[in-house]
Amino acid sequence: AKDMGGDLEKVLVTEEEITARIRELAAEIDADYAGKDLLLVGVLKGAVMVMADLARGLGHACEMDWMAVSSYGAGTTSSGVVRILKDLDTDIKDRNVLIVEDVIDSGLTLSWLVGNLKSRGPASVEICTMVRKPLAFSVDLKVKYIGFDLPNEFIVGYGLDYAEKYRNLPFIGTLAPHVYQG
Ligand code: PRP
Ligand code: MN
Ligand code: MG
Repeated sequence: AKDMGGDLEKVLVTEEEITARIRELAAEIDADYAGKDLLLVGVLKGAVMVMADLARGLGHACEMDWMAVSSYGAGTTSSGVVRILKDLDTDIKDRNVLIVEDVIDSGLTLSWLVGNLKSRGPASVEICTMVRKPLAFSVDLKVKYIGFDLPNEFIVGYGLDYAEKYRNLPFIGTLAPHVYQG
């Protein structure tokens, strides 16, 4: 098993469970956007895995674009201040935008991003996230497509990182405490 040299504690969502859930979400999205324009907007870097799998699961000629944002400066405290590091290449006026994320934690990144994108005059803005954590319930954020609601643990894999590592795990798991306790 891929345990990243003993850095993992347990698997929370297996590769098979992710694949099955992505297939369900893709079918929902296909149905909801049938006959409509669709632009997927992935938030770098975490969303890379879910974007790649979701897009290939769609039976829909969607487009893909990317944004990179820095949340809350260098600290880990959530001030809600977000900076655009890489903006969209696409003009989203009158487009149907579906934001694709790996995880919603505090919800601050997406709250800000939804507001920012809505100010550009799109036809619609919706959210698809692989994981939602419980803190996200404290912000007013409508999330249309959710892979898994997971508890507030230190999770990595399938795009989610700890200090930029473990994104390449094909499943979602918890990190062994020795890794983040030093
Ligand atoms: C993570 C994650 C989300 C965001 C969620 O990204 O991928 O984009 O944080 O956190 P929030 O709900 O508390 O705002 P991060 O800023 O770590 O960048 P990354 O995607 O490159 O890992
Ligand atoms: Mn991210
Ligand atoms: Mg990160």
